[in-house]
Parts: sequence; structure tokens; C-alpha cells
Amino acid sequence: MASVSVDEAMRRAIELAGRGLGATSPNPVVGCVLLDADGEVVGEGFHAYAGGPHAEIVALAQAGTRARGGTAVVTLEPCDHTGRTGPCSHALIAAGVSRVVIAVPDPNPVASGGAATLRAAGVQVALGVRTQEAEAGNVAWLTSMRRGWPYVIWKYAATLDGRSAAADGTSMWITSEAARIDVHALRGTVDAVLAGVGTVLTDDPRLTARNLRDGTLAIRQPLRVVVDSSGRTPADARVRDGAARTWIATAAEVGAGPDGRVDLAALLAELHHRGVRAALLEGGPTLAGAFLAAGLVDRIVGYVAPKLLGAGPAALLGAGVSTIADAIDLEITDVTRVGPDLRITALPRKREG
Ligand SMILES: NC(=O)c1ccc[n+]([C@@H]2O[C@H](COP(=O)([O-])OP(=O)(O)OC[C@H]3O[C@@H](n4cnc5c(N)ncnc54)[C@H](OP(=O)(O)O)[C@@H]3O)[C@@H](O)[C@H]2O)c1
Repeated sequence: MASVSVDEAMRRAIELAGRGLGATSPNPVVGCVLLDADGEVVGEGFHAYAGGPHAEIVALAQAGTRARGGTAVVTLEPCDHTGRTGPCSHALIAAGVSRVVIAVPDPNPVASGGAATLRAAGVQVALGVRTQEAEAGNVAWLTSMRRGWPYVIWKYAATLDGRSAAADGTSMWITSEAARIDVHALRGTVDAVLAGVGTVLTDDPRLTARNLRDGTLAIRQPLRVVVDSSGRTPADARVRDGAARTWIATAAEVGAGPDGRVDLAALLAELHHRGVRAALLEGGPTLAGAFLAAGLVDRIVGYVAPKLLGAGPAALLGAGVSTIADAIDLEITDVTRVGPDLRITALPRKREG
């Protein structure tokens, strides 16, 4: 087999890491490619699920003795602590790897220190190959570890004139089946799905990740969170079925903001504490407005249907904007056609001061 460059190996390691997306929380996604002394790929691995072997261990097991004198190319600094598995730094040293190339240092104080341990054992350590790309692949985990609350994606569906429901309140189904399948795939990549009690009372959604055609549930279900200040979620609401874990987050349990409603910052801190690194905010417009007004949304995924309603509630309410100068500026990072609809991904621009 031909030798590959470290840069090429890192590109592959990032691709491998992405296969764990949605299954590794509260751990990060990590990919590893092992090259022997001649630069030939002798092992590959990724972290597939929390509690499972780390990427480096999978790659080392494949490589066997061919790892000796080789290079480990990893998307995240190898861990240095014993959790459910042993420290990867020690495993790399024991295998005789002579160089480790890392895209992103580990921001988790509990697990970091792998690079220092490797260096102390005489292993060459290089940092910074394809860092931006590796950061992007792990953005939810890295962001949530650095600041202590989950990465929040607000997802909504609207007509081309920005309506989230018709004048009579009907809103199912604004977008196509293809878009709804896409949403279920998105749910499969997060640890929690959030909805306001208004949506639960109106639509009675299940909020599970499932196959839309036959209803089969995905193996891993995000935690369902209903943001419900005074506990109005009906006893027979679908979110209370046994299909996935559900948390009815009330103001009494989480804490209340000045308006007496659930304190959203406290809610996110509690979710982080429960191991949630990525959360999908599925609305509705009032809860989304409150999250945006508080600057708590990291990414927006809007599904826009080629329909006009002319009346009916807007996709977003009360986001704290009363004049154009206060508009929440976005940077569009992706536009993809999903069936007849458009999926627009955007990032809120950080506000000055
Ligand atoms: N097109 C879409 O993407 C989409 C998605 C979801 C929903 N919808 C539509 O949206 C409509 C429901 O909208 P909605 O605005 O009434 O519901 P919502 O945003 O789901 O829920 C709003 C409720 O959340 C509770 N809440 C708790 N803490 C809050 C806080 N800190 N800030 C704001 N709200 C808080 C409030 O009730 P308490 O104070 O009683 O807790 C509030 O009334 C339905 O017609 C549904 O079909 C559309």
C-alpha cells in the first residue's frame, strides 16, 4: 500500500471521527489513523460510543506491532486519564509509537495532559494539523466543554413568507417528507431535543428520532425536554410515552427568570451537568425567541417550504428586537435543497458589547 502524508491521514481521521457523531456524548468524537515508519496506513479507528474503546485503542489493535516507530494522527489530544477506559497516552507509549500528530488540544481539564505525558516519554508531538476542520467536526462538544453549557441548534420550519403555522393554528406539515426525514437524522446527532409547552399542547409531538416510513425508533434517543414553567404538560402527552427519556423542566425544579418562566441559562447548565453536549431546540416561536434574545443559540437550521400562508404565527416571536438596528445578524454557512424545500444553516453573529 502506498504511503500517505500526515495531512492526508488527518483528513481521513476527521472523516472517521464524524462516524461517531450523536453516539459518543458526553465524550467527543475522535478519529485516529496510524502510519508505520514508512508512512503506510496500518490502523484506523474512531470512538463509536461512550464507554467504548477510544479511537487510538482501536487503531493500535489493528496495527499490532506495526505501530512501533510509527505516527499516530489523531483529531483530539489523546486522553491522559483513566475513565471507563485506560489513558490513550500510555497505550501509545507502550505500543512504541514515535510521533503523535494532534489537530486540537483537549479542553477538558480531567482528560487533558496527554501531549505532555507523551513528550515526557520521548514521543515527538506535533499540534495544529487541519485544526479548523477538526474543530468544526467536534464543534458541539468543544464549545460545550469550553463554556459549560450545551451547543444549541434552533431548528424550525416555515413557509417562504416566514409563517410557522396557518391562521387556524394548523402547522403539520409545512415542509415535505424529505425535510422531516432530514430533521429525524438531525435529532439522531444530538443528546437532547427541547420544546416549549406551547408546542406540546398544540401539536402533541413525540420528539423521538425515528424512521418516518415505518416508525422504527433509532437505537439511541435524545433526551426529550419540555420547557414548562408550571408543569402544564398533560399526563397523556406523547412525550411522556416510554419511547425515550423525558424531562419536564419546570421553574420549580430549574429556577425561574425575572418573568417567572424557566431560567434558560440554568436549564442549559443543568443539561450540561446531565451530559448533554448538543441540544436541538425545536421551538416553538416563543421559546426560540427567548433563547435568541438571551444569546443562547449557536446555530440555526431553517427548513423553508415553497408555500405562502399570508397569515398565521411567525416562525419567531419576541426575540428582543424592536428596531432594525437590533436585528440578529446571521452568517449563512450552507444552503441545501431537501426535496422541494430549502435547508438553510446560519450562525448568529456575535454582538458587540
Ligand atoms: N414551524 C415550526 O418549526 C414549529 C416548531 C414548533 C412549534 N411550532 C408551532 O408553534 C406553536 C406553539 O408556539 P408557542 O410559541 O405557543 O410555543 P412554544 O414556544 O413551544 O412554548 C412557549 C411556552 O414555553 C414556556 N416557557 C417556559 N420557559 C420559557 C422561557 N424562559 N421563555 C419562553 N417561554 C418559556 C411558556 O409557557 P409557560 O410559561 O407556561 O411555561 C411559553 O408559553 C404551535 O402552533 C406549533 O405548531 C412550529
